[in-house]
Amino acid sequence: MTIHIGAEPGQIAETVLLPGDPYRAKWAAQTFLKDVECVNKVRGMLGFTGTWNGHRVTIHGSGMGMPSLSIYVNELITSYNAQTLIRIGSCGGMQTSVNVRDVIIAMTATSLSTPSRGIFRDINFAPCADYNLLRAAADAATARGTPTHVGGIYSSDVFYDERPDLNEQMIRHGILGVEMEAAELYNLAARHGRRALAVLTVSDHLITHEALPAEDREKTFGDMVEIALEAAFSGQ
Ligand code: HPA
Repeated sequence: MTIHIGAEPGQIAETVLLPGDPYRAKWAAQTFLKDVECVNKVRGMLGFTGTWNGHRVTIHGSGMGMPSLSIYVNELITSYNAQTLIRIGSCGGMQTSVNVRDVIIAMTATSLSTPSRGIFRDINFAPCADYNLLRAAADAATARGTPTHVGGIYSSDVFYDERPDLNEQMIRHGILGVEMEAAELYNLAARHGRRALAVLTVSDHLITHEALPAEDREKTFGDMVEIALEAAFSGQ
């Protein structure tokens, strides 16, 4: 047990999928895994361990924003030996070539700041995905025929952004989408020598202002979960 995770040692798999929303963790575990057991309920941040095609997997909520994700990912890595950590979440589209429902696989994650800023200080560290996971996810998405984009995303500290000029600069520099967690996931994976990736579904759009209708969410989010699972165990 850690401060924020009630699981016993061994109850968390080496592969962890991280949706922001704990109820989405429950839905994904019940939908895609077999022999599911709930391994965390502390503060309502649900975590579940089960199997997918015979492989053990944990699906655990990260909460919203990098400070919350940092708590869970630090504990998953240092106390439970998580080796492969894949964020599955939603993002806002930032290019007209990116549509609502598309999947974005985040090669890099730009930010104004992350919880790691205190240790990087004047260095602009470049948080990036694990290449083999990235390639496997892109291959899985292509095989499924899911419209998918691979490139840079923006990890923001705010959902209600009072600085539209920042989004404009991101759009101008080809950033595909905005979310609030991936940059710190990539920082922590780099620090601890683990594999990390973010696979995102475009749920709303900053340019077209389109939003994913509630009834479409399950199917589109399901594609993202299966791409993440296929990437995690590709070649195994
Ligand atoms: N901004 C930040 N995070 C998000 C967004 C957004 O527009 N959409 C989904 N996650």
